[in-house]
Amino acid sequence: MAANYDSLNNATRQTSPYGSGDPYYAQSSGYITPHNPPRKRTSNWVKYGIPVAILVIAAAVLGGVLGSRAHKKSVANAASGSAAAASSAVSVKNEIGRFATATDSQYMLPIYPMTTNTAAFTSPTFLSTSNAQLAWPQDPFQPSNPSADQVRSDRPRLIAPSYKWAALPQLIPSDPYLSGWNATIFENATQYFNLPPVVYVMDGGNGILDPAREIKQRVKAFSYCFRMTNDTKWLDRTWSELQNAAGNLTGGWGPANYTKWNPVHFLDTAELTAAYAIAYDWLYDNWSADQKSMIMYTMIEYGLNNGITAYNDANDPLYFGWWRNNTEGNWNCVCNNGLTMGALAILGDDTTGIAQQLLAMTVPNAQENCALAVSSDGTWAETANYWYFGTTGHAEMSASLQSATGSSYDLLTINPNFYLTGLYHMYVTGPGSLFNYGDCGPNKYSTTANSIMYYGQQYNQPQYQLFQRDQADSADPWNMFWYNPAVTGAFWDGLALDHSFDNSTDQWASMRSSWTDENALYVAMKAGTLQNHQTHNDLDCGDFVVDALGVRWFGELGSGDYLSEGYFSNDSQDSQRWLYYRKMTEGQNTILVGQANQNVLAAPTVQFDSSATVQGSSTVMDVPSDSTAYFIANLASAYFNVTSFSRGVHLINGRKQVLIQDEITASASVMWRAHTNATVSISSDGLTATLTIGSQTVQVQLLNPPSGAQFTTMEPVRFPTDPPTPAGWADQPNPGVTVLTISLPAGTYTLEVLINPQWPGSTSSSFATPSSVPLSGWSLTSHP
Ligand SMILES: *[C@@H]1O[C@H](CO)[C@@H](O)[C@H](O)[C@H]1NC(C)=O
Ligand SMILES: *[C@@H]1O[C@H](CO)[C@@H](O)[C@H](O)[C@H]1NC(C)=O
Ligand SMILES: *[C@@H]1O[C@H](CO)[C@@H](O)[C@H](O)[C@H]1NC(C)=O
Ligand SMILES: *[C@@H]1O[C@H](CO)[C@@H](O)[C@H](O)[C@H]1NC(C)=O
Ligand SMILES: *[C@@H]1O[C@H](CO)[C@@H](O)[C@H](O)[C@H]1NC(C)=O
Ligand SMILES: *[C@@H]1O[C@H](CO)[C@@H](O)[C@H](O)[C@H]1NC(C)=O
Ligand SMILES: *[C@@H]1O[C@H](CO)[C@@H](O)[C@H](O)[C@H]1NC(C)=O
Ligand SMILES: *[C@@H]1O[C@H](CO)[C@@H](O)[C@H](O)[C@H]1NC(C)=O
Ligand SMILES: *[C@@H]1O[C@H](CO)[C@@H](O)[C@H](O)[C@H]1NC(C)=O
Ligand SMILES: *[C@@H]1O[C@H](CO)[C@@H](O)[C@H](O)[C@H]1NC(C)=O
Ligand SMILES: *[C@@H]1O[C@H](CO)[C@@H](O)[C@H](O)[C@H]1NC(C)=O
Repeated sequence: MAANYDSLNNATRQTSPYGSGDPYYAQSSGYITPHNPPRKRTSNWVKYGIPVAILVIAAAVLGGVLGSRAHKKSVANAASGSAAAASSAVSVKNEIGRFATATDSQYMLPIYPMTTNTAAFTSPTFLSTSNAQLAWPQDPFQPSNPSADQVRSDRPRLIAPSYKWAALPQLIPSDPYLSGWNATIFENATQYFNLPPVVYVMDGGNGILDPAREIKQRVKAFSYCFRMTNDTKWLDRTWSELQNAAGNLTGGWGPANYTKWNPVHFLDTAELTAAYAIAYDWLYDNWSADQKSMIMYTMIEYGLNNGITAYNDANDPLYFGWWRNNTEGNWNCVCNNGLTMGALAILGDDTTGIAQQLLAMTVPNAQENCALAVSSDGTWAETANYWYFGTTGHAEMSASLQSATGSSYDLLTINPNFYLTGLYHMYVTGPGSLFNYGDCGPNKYSTTANSIMYYGQQYNQPQYQLFQRDQADSADPWNMFWYNPAVTGAFWDGLALDHSFDNSTDQWASMRSSWTDENALYVAMKAGTLQNHQTHNDLDCGDFVVDALGVRWFGELGSGDYLSEGYFSNDSQDSQRWLYYRKMTEGQNTILVGQANQNVLAAPTVQFDSSATVQGSSTVMDVPSDSTAYFIANLASAYFNVTSFSRGVHLINGRKQVLIQDEITASASVMWRAHTNATVSISSDGLTATLTIGSQTVQVQLLNPPSGAQFTTMEPVRFPTDPPTPAGWADQPNPGVTVLTISLPAGTYTLEVLINPQWPGSTSSSFATPSSVPLSGWSLTSHP
């Protein structure tokens, strides 16, 4: 189980400035260079990328939302001058409203309206304004020498103080995002209201994490609704949910001892503690004295006491505090956050001293672990999925400390590159789905990307707020406070299409043809080391995904069964994890040598270049014909029986085609592999594979084939000659998936695989056939 995997933090750090104040407080904007990249003019090209279909969808789906688009002329000429600009930006936002969610998309991504409304779609900015409805108030509670155990005198303390609540009745009606989220939160709370309290379900791998997160999600919604209505039905319903999780309703809930909240899987304990903290603090004025003491007692008994044990090895026989030294994982953030919110909530009421005791441990520990989890390029080393949990814990902890005590104790600043993690999230998100390498499962309860709403404000990165506000998961009580209604513009205006993330743990590149077209081309490829990912990675150097035409053409298989024997044993070469198809090299979109796993000691080097094309204000992206990007990884160190191997990916022909080129010398068999959901048909010469999903088609060509090379297909299953899975465990089936392969004996090869999405209106002459250029000769102009 993951809980036994302890990645030790050996880094020597300065002693924390805990208690000495946060120099950045009260200047929460301006200390990190605002997003303002140079603009590049684009010329026209014949576009395939604006299919008629999306216009039809836009017209049909957005009709109601964008019903007032006819008015856009009247607001297109925003006057300069901040008051006029502010009021114009407000009226444009109100006229456009929120973007619709793609109902035809399983990923619920927004559909960006096809329009060139210059007033709305300008550079991301937080307007500085005197307009009371836009001004984001400065917290009047600004202690000159903040300390984590000195809290503000009024309630609530956590996430948002009362003056922010008091502003909501005026702010909500004037902002389509706030009013939409408010309505959704009420709708959801009403649904939860009518359900019985959350049932205790112990799932071996995940403990009681799902029930814990569901309770937290409900308590947030109920508490929000109570504060917004004063209707005691919400208070009473919160109470029944709390009593349920205390085991005080008929039938009980979990074990009748201190392990009720499952501290051996401490995430569960932490999330339940956070739920209790929110209920206690947000509804503080309206609980009876008895209720308050019962909530506090229960939180201490099942949550905070276990936190003390976790921090005290001598009393922790089960070692459930292993996450204290979990530098690159979400666990440290989630666990410290739950304990911190719980401690802050009861500080002053608690006579045992446990709240102070915990805060003196959680804050410095999170500074040395959680806050360092983001690598120097912004990547979350534990995969794009665990990013959600980790940054949510980090944001909740920082925001709670900030509102309760007046400082976030350098949790936002001790890692100077933490702010880049918003970019990581944006670039790892393709037009249809994440670049979901490694363990990436379905969404979990209360998992959102709303941490970037908070980071957008804290790091003065308005594009994070603009990106996130249109996502389906943005209807969250946190965003009623984290969102700054004075944000204006479009996240894509001035945003580069490509980005390379070059930290050695996760060298990867993200390349696309548009930020606003759900049918855009998206290609991402990774190298990176194969250790130090909290055992959530695959043996996947060279792995890639391709999206086009609204479909993922080459994709990932995702997580295996977390309960499988040895799944989380370790990341050594002999780990049982690497016996499972979805984790081994043959389950990835890369080259397989000798049908063997990659070398866990891989230390790839990478190269990246891009035309640095940025999108402009328009949602209709005109890609210049010379716009391109490429990424090359030297992967020889990732293999046994290989003397040299580099893999490159190059966008060509104005980002309408993708070339993947491998140059390899191997003393064992070589197999090119890529997994697809498509139906694959292969031409009689074996040099063209036609991939079909629904009504869309992609042609894949093998150019300049080495003798004997041709496409074949295989089932997405292990080879009969592979070492077996641990007794009693099997691979998960991968229904509908086909592996496109090229198999060759040991030797020296150049494999050039050209991927041609059949864009609407394209003919065979729309596609370029690049001449053969060795990877050493690749440049921004080496290909058409
Ligand atoms: C929030 O939503 C509820 C339910 O739709 C509504 O009754 C209430 O008026 C909204 N609040 C504000 C301030 O608009
Ligand atoms: C809120 O309700 C909507 C609509 O039923 C649902 O799609 C969404 O997942 C819910 N969100 C949360 C955070 O509960
Ligand atoms: C709820 O009660 C609070 C405190 O008495 C008051 O300030 C607020 O205006 C009330 N809200 C509503 C919607 O009645
Ligand atoms: C707590 O209760 C459960 C269920 O009754 C039991 O299995 C477990 O051994 C108990 N744990 C301790 C530490 O007493
Ligand atoms: C909640 O508490 C506040 C402060 O004591 C009070 O003004 C308000 O009336 C209470 N609300 C309800 C619904 O009892
Ligand atoms: C649950 O019941 C126990 C035992 O009566 C009590 O100590 C505790 O405070 C109760 N907790 C809640 C939240 O009702
Ligand atoms: C693990 O963390 C604890 C404090 O939380 C610290 O005392 C201990 O030195 C750390 N261990 C290592 C090996 O870093
Ligand atoms: C990668 O990021 C980590 C922080 O997580 C940093 O310590 C390390 O120096 C970075 N490595 C490189 C090569 O930039
Ligand atoms: C197949 O489609 C599912 C659902 O869209 C996706 O999660 C998965 O990654 C795809 N698999 C491949 C191999 O593309
Ligand atoms: C890694 O785990 C495997 C079992 O999956 C075990 O046999 C091996 O000894 C472990 N290696 C290390 C270095 O701990
Ligand atoms: C290298 O290739 C040889 C011949 O195919 C094979 O016997 C050997 O196991 C391979 N070594 C590794 C580490 O895969």
